[in-house]
Amino acid sequence: MSNEQQPAKMWSGRFREPLDRTFEQWQRSFPFDWRLLPQEVAASKAHAQAIAAADILTPAELEQTLAGLTRVGERAINWSNRISATSGQVDYETSDQQIGAAIVASAPQAEDIHHFVELELTKEIGALALKLHTGRSRNEQIATDMRLFVRDAIDATTNGLIAWAKALIVLAESADVATMPSYTHLQRAEPVLVAHWLLAYVSMIERDLSRLADARTRLNLCPLGSGAVAGATLALDRTLAAFALQFDAPTPNSMDATSDRDFMLDFAQAASTLGLHISRFAEELTLYSTAEFGFLDLPEAYSTGSSAMPQKKNPDLTELARGKSARLLGAATSLATLVKGLPLAYNKDLQEGQEQIFDIADTLAGLLSVLPGFTRSLKFRFEKMKTAAETGYLNAMAAATYLSNKGVPFRKAHEIIGNAVRLGLERNLELNALPLAELQTFSEHFAPDFFDAITLQATLDCHDVIGGTATSRVAEALTAARTRIASLASSSNPEGAHG
Ligand code: ARG
Repeated sequence: MSNEQQPAKMWSGRFREPLDRTFEQWQRSFPFDWRLLPQEVAASKAHAQAIAAADILTPAELEQTLAGLTRVGERAINWSNRISATSGQVDYETSDQQIGAAIVASAPQAEDIHHFVELELTKEIGALALKLHTGRSRNEQIATDMRLFVRDAIDATTNGLIAWAKALIVLAESADVATMPSYTHLQRAEPVLVAHWLLAYVSMIERDLSRLADARTRLNLCPLGSGAVAGATLALDRTLAAFALQFDAPTPNSMDATSDRDFMLDFAQAASTLGLHISRFAEELTLYSTAEFGFLDLPEAYSTGSSAMPQKKNPDLTELARGKSARLLGAATSLATLVKGLPLAYNKDLQEGQEQIFDIADTLAGLLSVLPGFTRSLKFRFEKMKTAAETGYLNAMAAATYLSNKGVPFRKAHEIIGNAVRLGLERNLELNALPLAELQTFSEHFAPDFFDAITLQATLDCHDVIGGTATSRVAEALTAARTRIASLASSSNPEGAHG
């Protein structure tokens, strides 16, 4: 099972008995951590440079090691080429899974991604490969690989969110001065501009972006050189590996660095909050697409039919999006529960956190691959929205404001308009259809200009404050949001490169 140069396991020296076969299979992480191949290769290259600087590798050996690692890193590309050559074009999702399955099947001995790279590097450069583990531990490697993976996932999520925010802004612009009811307690409240409603989601996205940027800053320290727990056993210049991987600096404490998964929690929690926002958006659109609301026609390209009821057009995209947020929340909860109560430093429990992070990254990538296109394709029924905004006394607060502007204390004005609404309900008339003479029986302050103060336009424009729905304020807010998102787009990392 082993030869002189390379034992089957990375740790078999002190063992005399073989592992239980079932346990051996069960404890392997390679079936899922194969996805860390680019990160493991990048981190191994950085470590090779650090140990070469410490004279463990000669310049020629370093060169050979780096070239070998590059070839190992290409394994995924090679498999992908082989798979598409034999099966023709496959879609992105399937091909990723197929590549994984092929890589995992190709290396039945590999316990995890670290072991895999060592085994493959040995195939490439022989015994020299075994020098690479000098002065390092898998505990620092996995911490580094995961930081690199999460950093990429943050960059990809950032780019996806910016695209979604842009789509919302385009939709808000195309809504122009269209109006709709706003709701509190899901009861009609006041009219707002459709653009104002859409910009609420842009605000949420901007907070999500800032949470992600914040998490990225805190994450960007390099664990390499932390060793198994107490620090590398070689006098390594840790800044070399850190800078090679575009980290800002080495982590300051080896015990923390090898056991810290806060960066995963930060990402998971930012992802669940983002998931909540997506879910609320999805819920609103699901609701607004019902016949009861009738505010929008679901885009056929993003809806499905029923196998039983021929008339149906179902909002599968928004329902699934709402459902996906449950996965994100679940993953964040799993991660927090995993770390809670772990003694310092590394514990194998931590291996369980990887799949949660992969699932979060995949779930977000999936959501953000459909949301911008879906958003751009939305077609509102502006007439219905406007009718809804004009019925149900949504101008009652503007009406009370009219009286308070005439010097009536607001509490009193509220009471008077309440009486007017009651009369309207009895007669089945909106406020603007009540005769002035009758209104004047409630208060002498009603005058002909009352009717100008409660038009839809006036009802919107009385909210003339920063963040309000007055037409001019929304136009300003839209311009400002467009500028902020454009500047984020130009400063964000378009590739999400890991190394
Ligand atoms: N596959 C392991 C993990 O993901 C790598 C670290 C293993 N370290 C150890 N001491 N067994 O956590």
